[in-house]
Amino acid sequence: MAEATCDIGLIGLAVMGQNLVLNMNDHGFKVCVFNRTTSKVDEFLADEAKGTQIEGAHSLEELCSKLKTPRRVMIMVKAGDVVDKTIESLLPYLEKGDIVIDGGNSLFTDSNRRTKELAEKGLHYIGTGVSGGEEGARFGPSIMPGGDPAAWPAVKPIFQAIAAKVEDGTPCCDWVGEGGAGHYVKMVHNGIEYGDMQLIGEAYQLLKDGLGLTADEFEAVFAEWNKGELDSYLIEISTTIFGKKDDDGQPIIDKILDTAGQKGTGKWTAIDALDNGMPVTLIGESVFARCLSALKDERVVASKVLHGPKQEKIPAEHKAEFIEEVRRALYCSKMVSYAQGYMLLRSAEKVQGWTLNMGGVALMWRGGCIIRSAFLGDIKKAFDKDEKLTNLLLDDFFSGALNKYQASWRKALIHAIELGVPTPAFSTALAFYDGYRTERLPANLLQAQRDFFGAHTYERLDKPRGEFFHTNWTGRGGRVSSTTYNA
Ligand code: ATR
Repeated sequence: MAEATCDIGLIGLAVMGQNLVLNMNDHGFKVCVFNRTTSKVDEFLADEAKGTQIEGAHSLEELCSKLKTPRRVMIMVKAGDVVDKTIESLLPYLEKGDIVIDGGNSLFTDSNRRTKELAEKGLHYIGTGVSGGEEGARFGPSIMPGGDPAAWPAVKPIFQAIAAKVEDGTPCCDWVGEGGAGHYVKMVHNGIEYGDMQLIGEAYQLLKDGLGLTADEFEAVFAEWNKGELDSYLIEISTTIFGKKDDDGQPIIDKILDTAGQKGTGKWTAIDALDNGMPVTLIGESVFARCLSALKDERVVASKVLHGPKQEKIPAEHKAEFIEEVRRALYCSKMVSYAQGYMLLRSAEKVQGWTLNMGGVALMWRGGCIIRSAFLGDIKKAFDKDEKLTNLLLDDFFSGALNKYQASWRKALIHAIELGVPTPAFSTALAFYDGYRTERLPANLLQAQRDFFGAHTYERLDKPRGEFFHTNWTGRGGRVSSTTYNA
């Protein structure tokens, strides 16, 4: 029998798993690792983990036998059935009170289910989002844990030690909520990441097609942007990307095929938004924009058949002004995107029965993860001021910035339309902004139409909410109205 000296076990030595293990080791935790293909355990111990106190196991039984009790076992395998199968295989070697942690990109409904299933067996389950890619996992990711709160005290010291820290040392990791709340917040994070990337892409194309900026000029513009309101990891890496040259000295960015891949978390966010009736339009558009980009061959054909406007470039004397308009459009759209993401979190609280710490979520995203930015500090402040804030756009800081910049945002979009440059995310953000601030939308006509063809009834402005009316619009319809009324 091996001595049970390890603080935590980790299953799955792909990139994220390996780096998390090294990170835990750096912080003084003794980790035991296992991987299905056991040769990877040996390779890892002989290579990356050489000289550390990391131990290896060639079976789950051996792994569990090396862990102090209550055992903490973290699973970092492919999301989906593999997680269930891994948990199933672990069960014979676990005892009541042990903790199973899933750090993969699991769907939150799976984490809801697993938390319940393991609780029934006397085990504690944590489903945690981990963001930051390879580098984050190694030196400080953003960690978003949810699941069984009874397990949190035993996991907290490890997670908070290895997580990224903001300027004052606060870790980008805190308890998110019960069941699948951690994976849910990670899903919304990924959706927002889709949105941020799409917005940056639209700014890039607008400046490229509108001004003909070169990669070197982009490098300079983005470096400047990164010093101000847009200060963020994604703007920072884009700056580096623009500066990177291929072997022939030409910018690599100009040689990369324009078709985007996706692994599905953006789509999950959009589907969940539709399921919950939340207008998270920007993430939806960002997913669709990736889908459209993937239709490269069709686009090449269409580019020769379908005409756009005669593309006049923006006059050189307006270059600086246009760059600033695009920057403001990006910033305003980003505010809308985060406001929509937080609307989704608010609705999830109601649907799932969670209480999410909105400021805490902003703090967890503030460092370590892909969407980290100075801007998340402003979001945190907004929730610190008012933890019940219904919509970020109503916070003084955000409404002030939007009121100040909205004219420039509109001008950037007018140019986009005139140039024929596609800006689905910028445009949907503005449409949302205008819709959200409109007291009377045309849904009165829509309700009249529904009542006309389906007797769906309507409410009236001059009567209290909850009273439903039906009009016999043509004089021919019956008197029976639909009994279901879904606002
Ligand atoms: P990546 O993160 O590189 O895309 P992945 O395919 O998602 O890799 O797999 C990540 C981890 O899940 C690996 O540790 C992998 O084990 P192998 O090294 O043996 O491939 C693990 N994994 C994938 N499918 C698995 C399965 N059916 N059973 C157990 N582990 C599995």
